[in-house]
Amino acid sequence: MSDRYAVIGNPVAHSRSPAIHAEFARATGQDIDYGRIEAPLDAFAPAVERFRLSGGKGLNVTLPFKHEAFQLCARRSERALLAQAVNTIRFDDSYGDNTDGIGLIRDFSQNVKLPLNGKSVLLLGAGGAAQGVVGALLEAGVARLVIANRTVAKAKALAARFPGASACGYDALGSEGFDIVINATSAGLAGAAPPLPDGMLNKSTLAYDMVYGRDTPFLAAARKAGARASDGLGMLVEQAAESFFLWRGVRPATQPVLAKLRGS
Ligand code: ATR
Repeated sequence: MSDRYAVIGNPVAHSRSPAIHAEFARATGQDIDYGRIEAPLDAFAPAVERFRLSGGKGLNVTLPFKHEAFQLCARRSERALLAQAVNTIRFDDSYGDNTDGIGLIRDFSQNVKLPLNGKSVLLLGAGGAAQGVVGALLEAGVARLVIANRTVAKAKALAARFPGASACGYDALGSEGFDIVINATSAGLAGAAPPLPDGMLNKSTLAYDMVYGRDTPFLAAARKAGARASDGLGMLVEQAAESFFLWRGVRPATQPVLAKLRGS
């Protein structure tokens, strides 16, 4: 029988993880079966336990359960501890990891092809998505990392956990330019864009939205301003590859899968 894995979240119906992992398994000759589980909002832990008891080997965890998953795991990686969130569970050793940050970094190096080392980066948002990538951005050697958030106190609390990061509100951003602006807010899901000062996105900016599967107002504004724009589909594929490696010990090629998802 195939080893069983799944993505667990709520909602989870539109997750592209099953298709991505099926491609990885086919390409590497691994015998796995990867499904999706929609857990009730108030019953994440029982749903995880049910899957484990039925023979499941591991899970990817998505919104809104990454913090609960972090609390559930007996052992946690350094990067999961930094993010206070787990997106990958391996049941054999009750191990929780977070591959979101490395997924973002690898997307920049492999697909976007823009080295982060030495760059000035503005990170928008201070929720779960932002929290998952701060440590990895700093480790990638960015020269400057500013976290801007609508609720300034949340940005300050996040930056305080990471020496090297600073925080402010949108109105304090002023005229300082950044090489890279990463949107980690959920504004795009509601058809809105974070309130950036005029001129922040320009011809020399790379605008990156961690959301995928839709053209967000942030990316549309970036393109209009002549900035280079990228969605978060590459990050999704790269974080999946790192999860696959944690479970199977095999690193799948990501570029063919990303090209297939983009229909190119
Ligand atoms: P996620 O796990 O996706 O990050 P979250 O923890 O609910 O979700 O955080 C959502 C983030 O998007 C927050 O940083 C939120 O700002 P606040 O902390 O001020 O609420 C940000 N956000 C959501 N809608 C936004 C909007 N219209 N403009 C700017 N920021 C927004």
